[in-house]
Amino acid sequence: MVKAAVLGASGGIGQPLSLLLKISPLIDELALYDVVNTPGVAADLSHISSVANLKGYLPKDDGLEHALTGADIVVIPAGIPRKPGMTRDDLFKVNAGIVQTLINGIVKFCPEAFILIISNPVNSTVPIAAEILQDAGVFNPRHLFGVTTLDVVRAETFVQEYSGERDPSKAKIPVVGGHSGETIVPLFSQANPALDIPADKYDALVHRVQFGGDEVVAAKDGTGSATLSMAFAGFRFAESVIKAFKGEMGIVEPTFIYLPGVPHGAAIAKATGVDFFSVPVELGADGASMAIDILGSATKKEKELLDISIKGLKGNIEKGIEFVKNAP
Ligand code: NAD
Ligand code: LMR
Repeated sequence: MVKAAVLGASGGIGQPLSLLLKISPLIDELALYDVVNTPGVAADLSHISSVANLKGYLPKDDGLEHALTGADIVVIPAGIPRKPGMTRDDLFKVNAGIVQTLINGIVKFCPEAFILIISNPVNSTVPIAAEILQDAGVFNPRHLFGVTTLDVVRAETFVQEYSGERDPSKAKIPVVGGHSGETIVPLFSQANPALDIPADKYDALVHRVQFGGDEVVAAKDGTGSATLSMAFAGFRFAESVIKAFKGEMGIVEPTFIYLPGVPHGAAIAKATGVDFFSVPVELGADGASMAIDILGSATKKEKELLDISIKGLKGNIEKGIEFVKNAP
């Protein structure tokens, strides 16, 4: 029996993500939590003839406790999205507090759950979560994931003309680093099957993967950021975590993790100089069972991109940790 909880379930990502989780045969119980509108979203989704038994919760009547109790996997898309002209870091002020509140709930009600963080800035919200869990003495680094799957999904899509795949998801492209602008590093040299990207197209492709989020923010013109593609990506990652939890072997997904706490991660942390980084991770019944080091095989150009990513990430990670350390 698998219970999943979505925190921020009434939002632009939360609703389509909850729909995908509701129709997944892998989930038996689905809890939808938000500060608004969950009764309506839950009533609507509960009419779908699929396996998951679904309930909606608001903060009143201990809603967070009921949503989280017994949860095996918690997906968090709660928080404000960007508007044109904003960076993801501009969301920190509001979203750090939201993530803090929700992780405190997880500490109390389901400390052993897999935690999938979508709320931006991921480069900082994941360190915030790690620090809170650590302070509470319940941190299991194998269970904490920053969801960077949308970067992978974008890379697969944007290289389709070079991968030649009818189904772009058949091209495996590791995207590593963080989840904002230049901290995002697609490693096209490690694609499987191999890609033949013309030299004069390479920089533009890298840039499109790094700044794909801005394309959507600009097109939505003040009404938000990626929601539908993020719901797809968030579901894809959640499904992988659940499949591995249920015993499926050989599932590998890039995700933003606390490297020193995951087998083979410490060496990557030492080589990069950062503790949080997205790398391909083999998933198992206990979550992140192994970090896979592919950075050593990066090309010279990719190594330059990695250096820039690491510089940016250091400040983002520190900011998250300091937020928790300085909390009243
Ligand atoms: P949205 O404003 O449409 O929805 C956010 C939801 O969070 C709202 O329903 C809101 O009521 C809820 N919420 C706010 N405070 C809460 C709390 N304390 N507890 C529970 N719920 C709370 O925003 P969105 O478009 O769904 O985006 C959500 C977040 O996801 C943003 O921070 C955005 O930047 C981020 N995002 C991340 C990725 C990624 O790749 N990781 C991709 C897209 C968006
Ligand atoms: C994305 O990559 O689409 C998200 O992180 C949302 C954003 O702010 O761009």
